Amino acid sequence: MEYNFNELKTRVEKLKKEQNAVILAHYYVPDDVQALADYIGDSYGLAKLATQVDADEIIFCGVDFMGQSAKILNPTRRVFLPSAQASCPMAHMITADAIKEMRSRYDDLTVVCYVNSTAEIKALSDVCVTSSNALKIVKKLPGKNIFFIPDGNLGHYIKEQCPEKNVIPWKGYCLVHAAITIHDVEKARIAHPQAKLLAHPECPADILNEADYIGSTKGIIDAARTMPDQGFIIATECGVLCELHRQCPGKTFYTVHPNQICVNMKRVTADKVLDALVNHSNEVFVPEDIAAAALKPLQRMIELAES
Ligand code: 13P
Ligand code: SF4
Repeated sequence: MEYNFNELKTRVEKLKKEQNAVILAHYYVPDDVQALADYIGDSYGLAKLATQVDADEIIFCGVDFMGQSAKILNPTRRVFLPSAQASCPMAHMITADAIKEMRSRYDDLTVVCYVNSTAEIKALSDVCVTSSNALKIVKKLPGKNIFFIPDGNLGHYIKEQCPEKNVIPWKGYCLVHAAITIHDVEKARIAHPQAKLLAHPECPADILNEADYIGSTKGIIDAARTMPDQGFIIATECGVLCELHRQCPGKTFYTVHPNQICVNMKRVTADKVLDALVNHSNEVFVPEDIAAAALKPLQRMIELAES
């Protein structure tokens, strides 16, 4: 049967109203899912929104850690992930034992946890960060010794920007951003010599050194809109192109290579959004003790990011 977006959207709208549900979507999910959303944002914006929405049900169009954070921050709401298989591999690249081991080495260690992590790991951390606020938050922390988990590229970027701290980055990485190479960036630069390079801090250091702007998905979109330039090379997942084109009509965007695709984000499809509303499938549950412990670093992130 042919997929009819307008028909699906009408059903989604009706169910949303009947069930007092809201749809939040990350910039990396497919374009038609973004078109169903009430709010689209980066991981910080969506986490903050999850604390503010008045709806009984949150349909979180993103990967599992995002849905978990929404549930932890707003436990009285029911949170649903359209795809149970949409999981960020980086979130599983750090262990509780690695944190314990590092804590045993430093008395004053602050564990700074990128939100791309499991609830269990957040529960063992002192503060969470996203790519939009990591630098601001790390600079505000009182301690000198910072264990930055799990993303090594973001951790190294923060280390470089915060020489006053002893930032110890873990070695996790995003497969999508790690696959963007400086060689491909140089080729894109030659092909589009006037274009500015906008990069996500999950990219390798040699790309960040070349970038004209480094920031979160929302940061990249804001930079493209406000910079006077007309052409941009985008070093992050290709889902941002949807909002880039919407907010910057007339400007031109180039990817570094054609495979800047997060397969996990692309598992969130429009029919699964409908299914989540119809069948209440894939509800997010976080064990109470873990949720209580993980809430503290998430709330600390919001306090420090907003102050
Ligand atoms: P943002 O916080 O920039 O939205 O990034 C989330 C993410 O998963 C990047 O790969
Ligand atoms: Fe995780 Fe990378 Fe996908 Fe972001 S783009 S959700 S870090 S795998």
